[in-house]
Amino acid sequence: MTPKSVSIFEVGARDGLQNENPVTTQDKIILIEALAKAGIKRIEAASFVSPKWVPQMADSGEVLRNIARQSDVTYSALTPNLKGLELALDAGAEEVAIFGAASQSFSQRNINCSIEESIERFAPVMERAIAANIPVRGYVSCVLGCPYEGDIAVSEVARVSEILYKMGCYEISLGDTIGIGTPDNARRMLETVAEKVPVDKLALHFHDTYGQALANILACLETGVSVIDSSVAGLGGCPYAKGASGNLATEDLVYMLHGLGIETGIDLQLLAQAGNRISQALGRTTGSKVARAISG
Ligand code: HMG
Ligand code: MG
Repeated sequence: MTPKSVSIFEVGARDGLQNENPVTTQDKIILIEALAKAGIKRIEAASFVSPKWVPQMADSGEVLRNIARQSDVTYSALTPNLKGLELALDAGAEEVAIFGAASQSFSQRNINCSIEESIERFAPVMERAIAANIPVRGYVSCVLGCPYEGDIAVSEVARVSEILYKMGCYEISLGDTIGIGTPDNARRMLETVAEKVPVDKLALHFHDTYGQALANILACLETGVSVIDSSVAGLGGCPYAKGASGNLATEDLVYMLHGLGIETGIDLQLLAQAGNRISQALGRTTGSKVARAISG
Protein backbone atom coordinates (compact mmCIF):
# COMPACT_ATOMS: atom_id res chain seq x y z
CA MET A 1 0.00 0.00 0.00
CA THR A 2 1.50 3.33 -1.08
CA PRO A 3 2.30 5.52 1.96
CA LYS A 4 0.50 8.83 2.61
CA SER A 5 3.73 10.53 3.63
CA VAL A 6 7.41 9.85 3.09
CA SER A 7 10.28 10.72 5.39
CA ILE A 8 13.27 11.93 3.41
CA PHE A 9 16.71 11.14 4.77
CA GLU A 10 19.01 13.72 3.19
CA VAL A 11 22.50 12.41 2.44
CA GLY A 12 23.92 15.15 0.21
CA ALA A 13 26.20 16.65 2.85
CA ARG A 14 27.76 13.21 3.44
CA ASP A 15 27.27 10.77 0.56
CA GLY A 16 27.27 13.67 -1.88
CA LEU A 17 30.19 15.74 -0.65
CA GLN A 18 32.39 12.73 0.20
CA ASN A 19 32.85 12.24 -3.52
CA GLU A 20 32.96 15.79 -4.83
CA ASN A 21 35.87 18.21 -5.00
CA PRO A 22 36.39 19.58 -1.49
CA VAL A 23 34.25 22.50 -0.37
CA THR A 24 34.90 24.66 2.68
CA THR A 25 33.58 23.76 6.11
CA GLN A 26 31.51 26.95 5.93
CA ASP A 27 29.90 25.81 2.67
CA LYS A 28 28.88 22.56 4.37
CA ILE A 29 27.43 24.40 7.34
CA ILE A 30 25.44 26.75 5.08
CA LEU A 31 24.13 23.72 3.16
CA ILE A 32 23.04 21.79 6.25
CA GLU A 33 21.32 24.83 7.77
CA ALA A 34 19.54 25.55 4.46
CA LEU A 35 18.33 21.94 4.23
CA ALA A 36 16.80 22.22 7.69
CA LYS A 37 15.12 25.50 6.73
CA ALA A 38 13.63 23.75 3.68
CA GLY A 39 11.88 21.33 6.05
CA ILE A 40 14.19 18.32 6.02
CA LYS A 41 14.09 16.58 9.40
CA ARG A 42 16.81 13.95 8.98
CA ILE A 43 20.20 15.13 7.77
CA GLU A 44 23.33 13.01 7.44
CA ALA A 45 25.84 15.71 8.17
CA ALA A 46 29.18 13.99 8.76
CA SER A 47 31.30 10.86 8.41
CA PHE A 48 33.92 9.78 10.91
CA VAL A 49 36.03 7.59 8.67
CA SER A 50 39.76 7.60 8.02
CA PRO A 51 40.75 11.01 6.59
CA LYS A 52 43.32 9.13 4.49
CA TRP A 53 40.50 7.20 2.82
CA VAL A 54 38.02 10.09 2.47
CA PRO A 55 39.74 13.47 2.93
CA GLN A 56 36.52 15.33 2.01
CA MET A 57 35.01 14.29 5.36
CA ALA A 58 38.03 15.20 7.52
CA ASP A 59 36.28 18.30 8.91
CA SER A 60 33.22 16.35 10.13
CA GLY A 61 33.79 17.27 13.78
CA GLU A 62 34.01 20.95 12.96
CA VAL A 63 30.85 20.76 10.85
CA LEU A 64 28.79 19.11 13.60
CA ARG A 65 30.10 21.49 16.25
CA ASN A 66 29.29 24.63 14.29
CA ILE A 67 25.89 24.10 12.67
CA ALA A 68 23.00 26.05 14.19
CA ARG A 69 20.74 23.15 15.13
CA GLN A 70 16.98 22.97 14.91
CA SER A 71 15.42 20.99 17.73
CA ASP A 72 13.15 18.94 15.44
CA VAL A 73 15.97 17.92 13.09
CA THR A 74 18.24 14.91 13.59
CA TYR A 75 21.87 15.34 12.55
CA SER A 76 23.60 12.03 11.96
CA ALA A 77 27.03 10.66 11.04
CA LEU A 78 28.67 7.53 9.64
CA THR A 79 30.75 5.60 12.17
CA PRO A 80 32.47 2.45 10.85
CA ASN A 81 34.21 1.58 14.11
CA LEU A 82 34.58 2.58 17.76
CA LYS A 83 37.09 5.29 16.96
CA GLY A 84 34.60 6.91 14.59
CA LEU A 85 31.82 6.56 17.13
CA GLU A 86 33.79 8.28 19.89
CA LEU A 87 34.63 11.18 17.55
CA ALA A 88 30.98 11.43 16.50
CA LEU A 89 29.69 11.44 20.09
CA ASP A 90 32.27 14.07 21.03
CA ALA A 91 31.08 16.31 18.19
CA GLY A 92 27.41 15.90 19.18
CA ALA A 93 26.06 13.49 16.55
CA GLU A 94 22.44 12.68 17.47
CA GLU A 95 22.35 9.49 15.45
CA VAL A 96 25.03 7.33 13.86
CA ALA A 97 25.21 4.73 11.11
CA ILE A 98 27.21 1.59 10.58
CA PHE A 99 27.66 0.52 6.99
CA GLY A 100 28.07 -2.99 5.68
CA ALA A 101 27.56 -4.66 2.32
CA ALA A 102 25.97 -7.67 0.70
CA SER A 103 29.14 -8.13 -1.39
CA GLN A 104 32.42 -9.44 0.06
CA SER A 105 34.56 -7.59 -2.51
CA PHE A 106 32.83 -4.28 -1.89
CA SER A 107 33.15 -4.73 1.87
CA GLN A 108 36.91 -5.31 1.49
CA ARG A 109 37.40 -2.31 -0.74
CA ASN A 110 35.13 0.03 1.21
CA ILE A 111 35.94 -0.77 4.83
CA ASN A 112 38.95 -3.08 4.50
CA CYS A 113 37.36 -6.21 5.97
CA SER A 114 35.03 -9.10 5.09
CA ILE A 115 31.29 -9.02 5.80
CA GLU A 116 31.81 -11.25 8.87
CA GLU A 117 34.65 -9.08 10.21
CA SER A 118 32.52 -5.98 9.69
CA ILE A 119 29.76 -7.46 11.85
CA GLU A 120 32.35 -8.12 14.58
CA ARG A 121 33.56 -4.52 14.36
CA PHE A 122 30.02 -3.16 14.48
CA ALA A 123 29.10 -5.03 17.68
CA PRO A 124 31.04 -2.77 20.09
CA VAL A 125 29.89 0.32 18.15
CA MET A 126 26.30 -0.76 18.70
CA GLU A 127 26.89 -1.51 22.37
CA ARG A 128 28.54 1.86 23.04
CA ALA A 129 25.90 3.78 21.03
CA ILE A 130 23.07 2.08 22.95
CA ALA A 131 24.82 2.98 26.21
CA ALA A 132 24.98 6.61 25.01
CA ASN A 133 21.30 6.47 23.99
CA ILE A 134 22.12 7.16 20.35
CA PRO A 135 20.06 5.46 17.61
CA VAL A 136 22.03 3.46 15.08
CA ARG A 137 21.07 3.15 11.44
CA GLY A 138 22.42 0.31 9.30
CA TYR A 139 23.37 0.51 5.63
CA VAL A 140 23.67 -2.45 3.31
CA SER A 141 25.52 -1.65 0.07
CA CYS A 142 25.31 -3.40 -3.31
CA VAL A 143 21.72 -4.58 -2.84
CA LEU A 144 21.07 -4.59 -6.59
CA GLY A 145 24.58 -5.36 -7.82
CA CYS A 146 28.26 -4.90 -7.07
CA PRO A 147 30.88 -3.05 -9.12
CA TYR A 148 33.32 -5.96 -8.59
CA GLU A 149 31.10 -9.07 -8.41
CA GLY A 150 28.15 -8.16 -10.62
CA ASP A 151 24.89 -9.78 -9.52
CA ILE A 152 24.30 -10.18 -5.80
CA ALA A 153 21.83 -12.77 -4.47
CA VAL A 154 18.82 -11.13 -2.84
CA SER A 155 19.05 -13.82 -0.14
CA GLU A 156 22.45 -12.37 0.82
CA VAL A 157 20.97 -8.85 0.96
CA ALA A 158 18.21 -10.17 3.24
CA ARG A 159 20.72 -12.08 5.40
CA VAL A 160 22.98 -9.06 6.05
CA SER A 161 19.98 -6.76 6.57
CA GLU A 162 18.53 -9.13 9.16
CA ILE A 163 21.84 -9.37 11.01
CA LEU A 164 22.13 -5.57 11.26
CA TYR A 165 18.49 -5.27 12.32
CA LYS A 166 18.81 -7.95 14.99
CA MET A 167 21.99 -6.28 16.25
CA GLY A 168 19.85 -3.26 17.10
CA CYS A 169 19.80 -0.96 14.06
CA TYR A 170 16.47 0.89 14.20
CA GLU A 171 16.35 1.13 10.41
CA ILE A 172 18.12 -0.59 7.51
CA SER A 173 18.90 1.47 4.45
CA LEU A 174 19.20 -0.59 1.27
CA GLY A 175 21.86 0.85 -1.00
CA ASP A 176 21.89 0.47 -4.76
CA THR A 177 25.44 1.76 -4.58
CA ILE A 178 26.03 1.84 -8.34
CA GLY A 179 22.48 2.68 -9.39
CA ILE A 180 22.26 -0.40 -11.58
CA GLY A 181 18.81 -1.70 -10.58
CA THR A 182 15.59 -1.60 -12.57
CA PRO A 183 12.04 -1.43 -11.18
CA ASP A 184 11.10 -5.12 -11.07
CA ASN A 185 14.46 -6.14 -9.55
CA ALA A 186 14.25 -3.36 -7.00
CA ARG A 187 10.75 -4.33 -5.89
CA ARG A 188 11.61 -8.04 -5.71
CA MET A 189 14.71 -7.28 -3.64
CA LEU A 190 12.68 -5.12 -1.25
CA GLU A 191 9.95 -7.76 -0.91
CA THR A 192 12.55 -10.43 -0.11
CA VAL A 193 14.27 -8.28 2.54
CA ALA A 194 10.84 -7.38 3.98
CA GLU A 195 10.34 -11.09 4.78
CA LYS A 196 13.19 -10.71 7.33
CA VAL A 197 12.95 -7.05 8.39
CA PRO A 198 9.58 -5.26 8.71
CA VAL A 199 9.03 -2.90 5.80
CA ASP A 200 8.48 0.03 8.16
CA LYS A 201 12.09 -0.46 9.33
CA LEU A 202 13.49 -0.28 5.80
CA ALA A 203 14.71 2.67 3.75
CA LEU A 204 15.75 2.94 0.10
CA HIS A 205 19.10 4.44 -0.82
CA PHE A 206 19.32 4.47 -4.60
CA HIS A 207 22.13 6.06 -6.58
CA ASP A 208 21.08 7.36 -9.98
CA THR A 209 23.98 6.24 -12.19
CA TYR A 210 21.73 4.69 -14.84
CA GLY A 211 18.87 7.18 -14.39
CA GLN A 212 16.62 4.49 -12.85
CA ALA A 213 16.35 5.65 -9.24
CA LEU A 214 13.03 7.49 -9.50
CA ALA A 215 11.40 4.62 -11.42
CA ASN A 216 12.79 2.10 -8.91
CA ILE A 217 11.46 4.09 -5.97
CA LEU A 218 8.03 4.39 -7.60
CA ALA A 219 7.95 0.61 -8.05
CA CYS A 220 8.94 0.09 -4.42
CA LEU A 221 6.46 2.59 -2.91
CA GLU A 222 3.64 0.07 -3.47
CA THR A 223 5.20 -2.18 -0.80
CA GLY A 224 4.59 0.58 1.77
CA VAL A 225 8.23 1.62 2.26
CA SER A 226 8.15 5.20 3.51
CA VAL A 227 11.75 6.29 4.15
CA ILE A 228 13.87 7.35 1.20
CA ASP A 229 17.46 8.58 1.12
CA SER A 230 18.32 11.22 -1.45
CA SER A 231 20.93 13.86 -2.15
CA VAL A 232 20.15 17.51 -2.78
CA ALA A 233 21.25 18.59 -6.28
CA GLY A 234 22.12 14.93 -6.94
CA LEU A 235 25.49 15.52 -5.28
CA GLY A 236 28.04 12.76 -5.11
CA GLY A 237 28.86 9.17 -5.87
CA CYS A 238 31.00 6.64 -4.01
CA PRO A 239 34.81 6.69 -3.97
CA TYR A 240 35.01 2.88 -4.00
CA ALA A 241 32.40 2.25 -6.68
CA LYS A 242 33.75 3.17 -10.10
CA GLY A 243 31.26 5.03 -12.27
CA ALA A 244 28.78 5.59 -9.43
CA SER A 245 26.94 8.88 -9.58
CA GLY A 246 25.14 10.65 -6.79
CA ASN A 247 21.98 9.54 -5.08
CA LEU A 248 18.73 10.51 -6.67
CA ALA A 249 18.33 14.30 -6.42
CA THR A 250 16.09 15.20 -3.48
CA GLU A 251 14.34 17.92 -5.50
CA ASP A 252 13.31 15.37 -8.17
CA LEU A 253 12.07 12.95 -5.52
CA VAL A 254 10.07 15.61 -3.69
CA TYR A 255 8.51 16.79 -6.97
CA MET A 256 7.38 13.25 -7.81
CA LEU A 257 6.05 12.54 -4.32
CA HIS A 258 4.08 15.79 -4.16
CA GLY A 259 2.68 15.02 -7.62
CA LEU A 260 1.49 11.66 -6.27
CA GLY A 261 -0.17 13.43 -3.32
CA ILE A 262 2.39 12.04 -0.88
CA GLU A 263 3.43 14.49 1.83
CA THR A 264 7.07 15.25 2.67
CA GLY A 265 6.86 18.49 4.66
CA ILE A 266 9.52 19.97 2.37
CA ASP A 267 9.47 23.36 0.63
CA LEU A 268 10.69 22.59 -2.89
CA GLN A 269 11.78 26.17 -3.67
CA LEU A 270 13.93 26.46 -0.54
CA LEU A 271 15.34 22.99 -1.19
CA ALA A 272 16.30 23.91 -4.76
CA GLN A 273 17.97 27.11 -3.48
CA ALA A 274 20.06 25.05 -1.06
CA GLY A 275 21.06 22.70 -3.89
CA ASN A 276 21.83 25.53 -6.30
CA ARG A 277 24.06 27.23 -3.75
CA ILE A 278 26.22 24.19 -3.02
CA SER A 279 26.41 23.45 -6.76
CA GLN A 280 27.73 27.00 -7.28
CA ALA A 281 30.32 26.41 -4.56
CA LEU A 282 31.38 23.31 -6.52
CA GLY A 283 31.55 25.34 -9.71
CA ARG A 284 28.84 23.47 -11.59
CA THR A 285 25.12 23.45 -12.25
CA THR A 286 22.73 21.43 -10.10
CA GLY A 287 22.25 17.77 -10.96
CA SER A 288 18.52 18.06 -10.29
CA LYS A 289 16.31 18.46 -13.36
CA VAL A 290 13.49 19.83 -11.22
CA ALA A 291 15.78 22.45 -9.64
CA ARG A 292 16.90 23.54 -13.11
CA ALA A 293 13.30 23.82 -14.27
CA ILE A 294 11.99 25.81 -11.33
CA SER A 295 15.05 28.02 -10.95
CA GLY A 296 14.62 29.15 -14.58
P1 HMG B 1 41.61 0.24 8.40
O1 HMG B 1 42.85 0.75 7.73
O2 HMG B 1 41.29 -1.21 8.25
O3 HMG B 1 41.57 0.61 9.95
O4 HMG B 1 40.40 1.12 7.90
P2 HMG B 1 42.57 0.54 11.11
O5 HMG B 1 41.77 0.39 12.33
O6 HMG B 1 43.68 -0.44 10.79
O7 HMG B 1 43.23 2.03 11.13
C1 HMG B 1 44.11 2.51 10.12
C2 HMG B 1 44.31 4.01 10.32
O8 HMG B 1 43.05 4.70 10.17
C3 HMG B 1 44.82 4.40 11.70
O9 HMG B 1 45.59 5.60 11.55
C4 HMG B 1 43.55 4.74 12.46
O10 HMG B 1 43.78 5.61 13.54
C5 HMG B 1 42.75 5.42 11.38
P3 HMG B 1 47.20 5.58 11.41
O11 HMG B 1 47.67 4.87 12.63
O12 HMG B 1 47.49 4.79 10.13
O13 HMG B 1 47.55 7.04 11.30
N1 HMG B 1 41.31 5.30 11.63
C6 HMG B 1 40.47 6.33 11.72
N2 HMG B 1 40.64 7.67 11.62
C7 HMG B 1 39.55 8.45 11.77
N3 HMG B 1 38.31 7.96 11.99
C8 HMG B 1 38.09 6.64 12.08
C9 HMG B 1 39.20 5.77 11.95
N4 HMG B 1 39.34 4.44 11.99
C10 HMG B 1 40.62 4.15 11.80
N5 HMG B 1 36.87 6.16 12.29
C11 HMG B 1 38.24 2.09 8.00
C12 HMG B 1 39.07 0.85 8.28
C13 HMG B 1 36.77 1.68 8.07
C14 HMG B 1 38.54 3.15 9.02
C15 HMG B 1 38.58 2.58 6.59
O14 HMG B 1 38.45 1.53 5.69
C16 HMG B 1 37.74 3.73 6.15
O15 HMG B 1 37.81 4.82 6.67
N6 HMG B 1 36.89 3.53 5.11
C17 HMG B 1 36.05 4.60 4.64
C18 HMG B 1 35.07 4.09 3.72
C19 HMG B 1 34.08 5.16 3.38
O16 HMG B 1 33.97 6.19 4.00
N7 HMG B 1 33.32 4.87 2.31
C20 HMG B 1 32.26 5.74 1.91
C21 HMG B 1 31.10 5.64 2.83
S1 HMG B 1 30.12 4.19 2.57
C22 HMG B 1 29.07 4.62 1.28
O17 HMG B 1 29.20 5.67 0.72
C23 HMG B 1 27.96 3.67 0.91
C24 HMG B 1 26.61 4.16 1.44
O18 HMG B 1 26.31 5.45 0.92
C25 HMG B 1 25.50 3.17 1.01
C26 HMG B 1 25.49 2.87 -0.49
O19 HMG B 1 25.45 3.79 -1.30
O20 HMG B 1 25.54 1.68 -0.80
C27 HMG B 1 26.59 4.25 2.95
MG1 MG C 1 25.49 5.84 -0.99
